[in-house]
Amino acid sequence: MTAEIISGTQIRKAILAELTEEVKQIKEKYGKPPGLVTILVGANPASISYVTLKVQTAESLGFHEIQDNQPDDISEADLLALIEKYNTDPDIHGILVQLPLPKHIDDKKVLNAINPDKDVDGFHPVNVGRLMIGGDEVLFPPCTPAGIQEMIVRSGTETSGAEVVVVGRSNIVGKPIAIMMAQKGVGANSTVTIVHTRTKDLASHCKRADILIVAAGVPNLVKPEWIKPGSTVIDVGVNRVGMNEATGKAILRGDVDYEKAAEIAGKITPVPGGVGPMTIAMLMKNTVRSAKIHLAR
Ligand SMILES: NC(=O)c1ccc[n+]([C@@H]2O[C@H](COP(=O)([O-])OP(=O)(O)OC[C@H]3O[C@@H](n4cnc5c(N)ncnc54)[C@H](OP(=O)(O)O)[C@@H]3O)[C@@H](O)[C@H]2O)c1
Repeated sequence: MTAEIISGTQIRKAILAELTEEVKQIKEKYGKPPGLVTILVGANPASISYVTLKVQTAESLGFHEIQDNQPDDISEADLLALIEKYNTDPDIHGILVQLPLPKHIDDKKVLNAINPDKDVDGFHPVNVGRLMIGGDEVLFPPCTPAGIQEMIVRSGTETSGAEVVVVGRSNIVGKPIAIMMAQKGVGANSTVTIVHTRTKDLASHCKRADILIVAAGVPNLVKPEWIKPGSTVIDVGVNRVGMNEATGKAILRGDVDYEKAAEIAGKITPVPGGVGPMTIAMLMKNTVRSAKIHLAR
């Protein structure tokens, strides 16, 4: 059997095309586009490249986009005051603070200062609580888990009653996707198991998964013989396993032995080109959702 590839690159393209239409309709109805501010403190090269990608995507969709760069030595008080300014700015519907922040600033304090109704990353405790309650309470599902769920749904994978096994229990991937798949509703209603480093027999859990979601950050952790034939495998892991000398770019691998797993699974996501491209698309989707809510008030 050769698995159908679930391409994050293609699904992302479809989502961005849908959002472009929605942004047009928002502009027609309210006379202004969704507004997103990205706050970058300092000049960490990885942060600059993430922020650039977010800004370019937002601009391509027609957002009102502000890239607010602040010096490395900005005080915590000044950063909190800046966030408060955007919290009350009626043209801004989403606020992103790029992590990591310099050591003299308390990350948690800063992230918790963002108005939960503009927290399009979905990391504020209020939004984590809303995610737990589920249904209409959820404003901003966190972007990587939301991307995973979108890929499962758009690939036509049945989730209702499915055995879902999530490898990993981080706050940004494992725990939220487990909660989302267990909720009542479309693209969910699954029976979920979370496994981690203290799990006694990882293989036995993975083997019964109709949908296996792996977010461990360990290359080739999941062996081909752990995959249930015909199942859907979502590989969230991004691991640098070497350098391509010809291109000078890192060689990336997921947490699943992809080539062999693709012979057994029914559907599988590649790395790169799988979950990775989905995250920013879901961030944009959350911002559009936020704009609609704020502008309708
Ligand atoms: N957009 C994207 O594509 C995207 C976004 C986010 C993350 N990622 C990638 O996804 C991976 C996970 O990210 P994360 O932030 O969730 O990582 P994390 O915070 O390091 O969490 C990893 C989780 O995996 C579990 N784990 C690690 N080794 C394991 C093993 N041998 N057996 C069973 N469980 C194991 C850990 O268990 P314990 O809790 O017991 O330690 C932990 O819960 C990384 O490769 C990351 O780069 C990709």
